[in-house]
Amino acid sequence: MSLFENAQVTTRNSDGVAEAPRFKKADVVRFPGTTEIPAYMHEVYEWAYVNPFNVYLLDRDWVVDTILFGNNGRLVRAFLKEISPGQRVLQSAHVYGDVIPKLATKIGPAGFLDIIDVVPVQADHAREKVKGMDHVRVRIADAADPGDDLYDVVSCFFLLHELPSDKKRAAVDALLDRVGPGGKAVFVDYHNPHRFHPLRWLLAGVFAWLEPFAAEMWQHAITDFAARAGDFRWQTKTFFGGLYQVTVATRS
Ligand SMILES: C[S@@+](CC[C@H](N)C(=O)[O-])C[C@H]1O[C@@H](n2cnc3c(N)ncnc32)[C@H](O)[C@@H]1O
Repeated sequence: MSLFENAQVTTRNSDGVAEAPRFKKADVVRFPGTTEIPAYMHEVYEWAYVNPFNVYLLDRDWVVDTILFGNNGRLVRAFLKEISPGQRVLQSAHVYGDVIPKLATKIGPAGFLDIIDVVPVQADHAREKVKGMDHVRVRIADAADPGDDLYDVVSCFFLLHELPSDKKRAAVDALLDRVGPGGKAVFVDYHNPHRFHPLRWLLAGVFAWLEPFAAEMWQHAITDFAARAGDFRWQTKTFFGGLYQVTVATRS
């Protein structure tokens, strides 16, 4: 299989001069150096994100809503409020359920949605969800190495808590670097809940069992992961007794 299978379409203008390559809608593009699945995906998340049969079983709205204790709808609404039609948006990973098509629909054909994921089967699922949408591209890439483009909005939806510490820092820095002038990054993720939150200890158990890198979201604000946090204005809104956050970093 070619590394650049379905990668790009080069067109020529009426003078026969090649125009800048454009990407065909929703094709999965494989860039050199970015196709490696990181070790933690196999060691920790193989069952959830790499095994194709499990991905088929889990990629459903009700699964996500159960994991988020019924908060998926309000978190997605808060997330989509940060996006406007016509914007250029980088989505830093595939998300189970219908977030991806909702995001693509909100951006609309006047905008551009660039979806990356580090696992090929996840990119395939994302591509299925945006079939027929000309303004969407799906690529296999690591959030810590998302490419050179600049965007109006860079989105990181429940990805950070799944990354090991050094990868969290690398991804936050790389994603913030992709925010264009006047643009913003939107992080939706876990947050340290109120200490008497009834689900605090249940979730601490789930983290210890299945999500070994998530507890860091309780110990740090997202700004702690950013080397150049001072280049941005940060605003955090919490949900469900502080269990979740929508943090917006606007380039100042
Ligand atoms: C967004 S997170 C979790 C989202 C949420 N739990 C859900 O409902 O899907 C899961 C995705 O992140 C992807 N992922 C993990 N590490 C990544 C990385 N370094 N770069 C890009 N994608 C990554 C996984 O392949 C998976 O598709």
